[in-house]
Amino acid sequence: MAVKTYNPEPFMDFSHPEIREQMLTALKKVEAELGRDYPLVIGGEKITTADRSTSINPSNKDQVIGVVSKADQALAEQAMQSALKTYDMWKEVAPKERARVLLRAAAIMRRRKYEFSAWLVYESGKNWGEADADTAEAIDFLEFYAREAVRLSEEQNLTRVDGEDNELTYLPLGVGIVIPPWNFPLAIMAGMTSAAIVTGNTVVLKPATPTPVIAAKFVELLEEAGLPGGVVNFCNGAGSVIGDYLVDHPKTRFISFTGSKEVGVRIYERAAKVQKGQIWLKRVIAEMGGKDALVVDQGVDAREAAQAIVTSAFGFSGQKCSACSRAIIHQDIYDEVVAHVVELAKPLTVGPSHEEGVNLGPVVDEAAYKNILNYIEIGKGEGRVLVGGGKAEGNGFFIQPTVIADVDRNARIAQEEIFGPVLAIIKANDFDDALEIANSTEFGLTGGVYSNNRFHLKKARDNFHVGNLYFNRKITGALVGVQPFGGFNMSGTDSKAGGYDYLLQFTQAKCVVERF
Ligand code: NAD
Ligand code: ALA
Repeated sequence: MAVKTYNPEPFMDFSHPEIREQMLTALKKVEAELGRDYPLVIGGEKITTADRSTSINPSNKDQVIGVVSKADQALAEQAMQSALKTYDMWKEVAPKERARVLLRAAAIMRRRKYEFSAWLVYESGKNWGEADADTAEAIDFLEFYAREAVRLSEEQNLTRVDGEDNELTYLPLGVGIVIPPWNFPLAIMAGMTSAAIVTGNTVVLKPATPTPVIAAKFVELLEEAGLPGGVVNFCNGAGSVIGDYLVDHPKTRFISFTGSKEVGVRIYERAAKVQKGQIWLKRVIAEMGGKDALVVDQGVDAREAAQAIVTSAFGFSGQKCSACSRAIIHQDIYDEVVAHVVELAKPLTVGPSHEEGVNLGPVVDEAAYKNILNYIEIGKGEGRVLVGGGKAEGNGFFIQPTVIADVDRNARIAQEEIFGPVLAIIKANDFDDALEIANSTEFGLTGGVYSNNRFHLKKARDNFHVGNLYFNRKITGALVGVQPFGGFNMSGTDSKAGGYDYLLQFTQAKCVVERF
């Protein structure tokens, strides 16, 4: 297959008048398409149900993004049967042909990049830059996994011995359930789905509740790219109703999940139970939450460290698993860094995400809004509020970027994932103390260190127990193929999405030996 070397998709510079104009045009186009109906897609058949979910714009609660059909358990069963039937055909399709579908999907998405980003702006509340990064990452996953599937299908490296032919091949697993989160509603959803199918599996895709329309758009795109019906069965529905049903199903071979610790643990436990008629152990790939920290050592540029903290804490209103929710600062530089954090966080603007230049859009829905405001109230009793501290104006779920200093390392806002624009600042006695604080939660996803001290950086390299560790930069924005992504401990199974080992998790390796 003649494809150029993989390289991450570049980000758009919206200060460029032509690029800005294209984004405005896409926003208008998408706005005119809001409120439409989206069916389930099972075995290539479009099914409209009486029971439907309404997706709304978190920037404007009165604006409907789309109305999406909802599966009950009978339809979930139909989706499972369709995936099972299609598996017999799809597993025989040559990996190169499967890869070509992903490459075509990437090409179409690239051509309609602004439009996909505009859907993200409206349905998930991402500002222009965050939406563009999400679309770029989705393209990257499609491009990267296409190449990786071809590589895995080639002759594998083994030690050769005389008189025998030894061959290792990677076979698909079967039917998988793909359960993505809403916070990268295009990139993570597309990455999880494309990795599963390019390796020869078929799937039931259950989109996240707040963002089903973007998932429906992706399923339409796969069809346009030539994916046969039944490979991806689009099955919108409540996690508690069809999620459990599909996870428990004896024909489910694997579950690919990204989301909260609570739901991830529930899936992990349920999948461990061997059901009547089940002849395998289900594989669970679960990427979960974080309580990520940026450690600032003495002797660094306080302003630069503060900028990294603010960018990592408030990008997409802190609704990233990688977001910095704890800044742990050496006592000698504490006051200086805190002052810069305040100065940089105060002017951040909060508003509807379609408006140009908005720093923070809304949080995703009513439940998140209430939960985050509740944590801010808890935080008021656990530290000193320096910036924000409550809701912001507007007909959406707007919350002020909030900075709370002098927080104890064991406080609730220093231990629990809030998943919103709330930063807890903690003072450390020295660098060793800072590392100890950083490692003191049940999570282990991302982390960062600002330091000029090579011994300290080495110490962090060895002992800061996270899956993705960054030195002297922000701790968000891992790039596909460049920074494979996944966490330790209660942050998940460390699957390293966007890495060279990722696809192995969707395969079973078979070794065949022929004696000559
Ligand atoms: P969530 O756990 O609420 O939902 C995730 C998915 O699980 C959704 O599709 C939801 O509908 C589904 N679900 C809910 N109950 C279910 C059940 N009983 N059975 C099966 N599926 C069920 O998470 P969320 O709010 O969508 O996403 C935010 C969380 O995701 C945060 O904790 C964040 O840190 C985490 N996250 C992690 C990563 C990572 O790579 N580690 C990436 C993005 C988000
Ligand atoms: N992969 C995303 C990031 O690194 C979550 O921010």
